[in-house]
Amino acid sequence: MGIRIIGTGRCIPENILTNDDLEKMVDTSDEWIVTRTGIKVRHIADKDQTSSDMAAVAAKNALDNAGITADMIDLIVVSTVTPDYAFPSVSALVQKKIGARKCPCFDIEAACSGFLYALNTAYGMMASPLAYKRVLVIGAEKMTSLVNWEDRSTCVLFGDGSAAVVLENDGNPDTPDFYVAGEVAADGEVSDLLIVPGGGSAMPATVESVTGKFHTIKMGGPKTFQLAVTSMVTACRKVLEKSGVSPEEVVWAIPHQANRRIIDAVANKLGIPEKVYLNVDRYGNTSSASIGICLDELNREGKIKKGDLILAASFGAGLTWAALLIRW
Ligand code: ACO
Repeated sequence: MGIRIIGTGRCIPENILTNDDLEKMVDTSDEWIVTRTGIKVRHIADKDQTSSDMAAVAAKNALDNAGITADMIDLIVVSTVTPDYAFPSVSALVQKKIGARKCPCFDIEAACSGFLYALNTAYGMMASPLAYKRVLVIGAEKMTSLVNWEDRSTCVLFGDGSAAVVLENDGNPDTPDFYVAGEVAADGEVSDLLIVPGGGSAMPATVESVTGKFHTIKMGGPKTFQLAVTSMVTACRKVLEKSGVSPEEVVWAIPHQANRRIIDAVANKLGIPEKVYLNVDRYGNTSSASIGICLDELNREGKIKKGDLILAASFGAGLTWAALLIRW
């Protein structure tokens, strides 16, 4: 069909939170965090810097990288679990901040799998009779707005950031699509494993909900760890099978950057540890921004060339999981 990724961008907040800083906040140590998670530092948004602020910067960088302007965009899809507001959507705020036309825009909420859910959705809408020509897909997260800084089992894990890609349909049937094969999945039976209980219709904000810290992340860490490994491995195998591509043909594997040990386990089971791109040590878990940040780093550092096959995989609250085989 001719649908390609023509540009990438990211926004990484300047402030850095180190493991040493966390040692002063909770009963933890650099040694524990590095051996259990692989994380050394994470970037933290300013108090007044929102997900849409970071999304707009990432989007502008992706547009510059693509060599096009905001008025050429036909659709904006943002993945986030940390929207500025319950409504309007982050995508509507991005449309305004980057000066895009009055194009349709909406947010997707599939937690850390959101970026791959958004790429699948955008591709489907471009290939459908809607036939959007240029689409901006963004993952944007201010995860630290959901962190309980007194809970050592979760506060060490997360960071903030955003990443964007520009998709374009060049209309040339000889141009291979970026989308080789995809898999999106979910299991609502384990929805309580990773949850922010307060702030939605189940528990609107009250003095009790705020003092009880119900607006922060609650996580069953070890069970999530186990499901993360099995779900990502299954999704990757399905995508490879659907496409008829062997693991050896994959040039880069980009797993969701949540925990170095999860990444190692997935890569070893797939037999591709040497192909894995890693930056969890520098950013922590940036939820749905994570895969896009990896993609942008690889792109800007010239580490991917035309035709390379990239296998991306993620998992997150829901539980959701997804994999996508991308042809560069
Ligand atoms: N520092 C020191 N000790 C700690 C810390 C810490 N920061 N956190 C937990 N511990 C302690 C625990 O209290 C426990 O102590 P105990 O044995 O005395 O009870 C011990 O370390 C072991 O705890 P576990 O939870 O079993 O440790 P584990 O090896 O499983 O690592 C971790 C915990 C890192 C959270 C791991 O389970 C994990 O990464 N899980 C997946 C998390 C994830 O990827 N979540 C995705 C969320 S993204 C989204 O969708 C929003």
